[in-house]
Amino acid sequence: MVDKKIVGEKAAEFVKDGMVVGLGTGSTVFYTIQKLGQLVKEGLSIKGIPTSVQTEELAKELGIPLTSFSEIESIDIAIDGADEVNSELELIKGGGGALLREKIIARAAKIFIVVADSSKRVEKLGAFRLPVEVITFGYEMTEKHIRAIGLVPEIRLNGGTPFITDNGNYIFDCQIPEHVQPEMLERMLNMIPGVVENGLFVGMTDLVITLDQEKNVVMLR
Ligand code: A5P
Repeated sequence: MVDKKIVGEKAAEFVKDGMVVGLGTGSTVFYTIQKLGQLVKEGLSIKGIPTSVQTEELAKELGIPLTSFSEIESIDIAIDGADEVNSELELIKGGGGALLREKIIARAAKIFIVVADSSKRVEKLGAFRLPVEVITFGYEMTEKHIRAIGLVPEIRLNGGTPFITDNGNYIFDCQIPEHVQPEMLERMLNMIPGVVENGLFVGMTDLVITLDQEKNVVMLR
């Protein structure tokens, strides 16, 4: 928790007056959003664009003004957590189920910052199962297609019934093959009819804020 707070709060230092800020989802970026709420109370003027209903509610509680894509031209900076980060700054995201809106916002942002304590840093992506968001129609067939390209999908459940994303979709948590190129897998998955998005974020991250073994803040670019 302390580690998440350190990296989360550090990211708030990159947010400047007048910015449109993509607000990520999860327990690490929670601390960024909390800090931004405090700064807004002290006079910082920003507009947030949330990546989930959960984050939208948190931002509202904290008094962070919100905006939407109908009102803005671009996003100055987006800050979000990750489930895994490798040395190429490629990510697996979506543990909290918000990957689709997170990817739309990360892609739209001029700068994308990831906040990740050291437990998230890996040599190779894939120990954390890759979330894949699929539409509910024909999901049984979509599952077969995902399996056919070598993944082992399992539908995410919430109290015995399928977990439903903010977009009304299902998620398959997938074991991925050992020697797979993230960029290729990201594309292959998104070519399957019924797949809306997957949690591989490749070539999107500008900066990872993390900690070294002595708990010093480290910036990976
Ligand atoms: C939400 O869907 C995820 O992509 C989160 O950003 C990711 O799971 C990191 O969350 P934590 O900071 O809670 O580990």
